[in-house]
Amino acid sequence: MEDEKWYWRTLWGTTAFFVLLPLCLKRLIVPYGRHVRRGWGPTMAARDGWVLMESPALWASFIVFVMGDHHTHTIPLCLFRFFQLHYVHRTLIYPFRIKEENKGMPIAVIASGFLFNFINAYLQARWISHYGVYPSDWLSSPKFLLGSTVFFVGLVTNIWADSVLLSLRQNSEDRSYKVPKGWLFEFVTCPNYAAEILEWLGWAILTWSPAGLVFALASAGNLIPRAVSHHEWYQKKFSDYPQKRRAIIPFVL
Ligand SMILES: NC(=O)c1ccc[n+]([C@@H]2O[C@H](COP(=O)([O-])OP(=O)(O)OC[C@H]3O[C@@H](n4cnc5c(N)ncnc54)[C@H](OP(=O)(O)O)[C@@H]3O)[C@@H](O)[C@H]2O)c1
Repeated sequence: MEDEKWYWRTLWGTTAFFVLLPLCLKRLIVPYGRHVRRGWGPTMAARDGWVLMESPALWASFIVFVMGDHHTHTIPLCLFRFFQLHYVHRTLIYPFRIKEENKGMPIAVIASGFLFNFINAYLQARWISHYGVYPSDWLSSPKFLLGSTVFFVGLVTNIWADSVLLSLRQNSEDRSYKVPKGWLFEFVTCPNYAAEILEWLGWAILTWSPAGLVFALASAGNLIPRAVSHHEWYQKKFSDYPQKRRAIIPFVL
């Protein structure tokens, strides 16, 4: 009972801190990548920073998952594989594709990313292997099928869009920015962020969980304002930046 109270308090705290607070501070743009700026303390190499801050989503979620009462059941095991699939890529593959690996990332940003991933790993894994109750036909239910389709469309599009961006630089010395072109980039500046939000929306549907919903909202609360800032940054830097392109939602925003 104490454990369950603790779970719900953590979920509400996460909603307040990572969903509602960013809405109030909607112009606080996290200082990494093109928005890195002075005044945020010491930095470390971005590649190491990505591995470190995303890693709790792998190891902490695994520890919490195996502590759950249902961790050997087929449905929790299947759901957990979706989560791990994303984070094996984000933690162990994506950082090694960044060309300009020595660019600094503030340790404060890495620490807050680490904290978010640690709490989120607990919320998602604890739900799946302990508090979530799924009927035996869940894996053929419309919610699971719809959610998993949305999740995979988001995952594949996110990886594709990140690959396009990462290919714009020639080598590890190249620090320049170019205008990305082609397919979804003709509609929005940040298809990688749009796809990431879609992916976690799919996760919220396929797990049909409050934790999944909070994660999807936290991702949107973080990535939508950042996409708007990226968009304004491109418009200032490139006088010929395509006028019809929007920040993150085609034809709308
Ligand atoms: N779920 C969440 O809340 C969350 C939060 C943050 C990130 N993410 C995901 O993590 C991934 C990376 O995020 P990010 O914020 O680093 O994305 P980003 O700003 O789009 O940058 C992605 C990579 O491409 C490079 N790049 C971007 N635009 C470029 C251009 N025009 N010319 C040359 N290089 C360019 C960036 O270099 P620089 O770093 O030098 O700019 C960076 O290495 C994305 O898939 C995102 O969805 C998820």
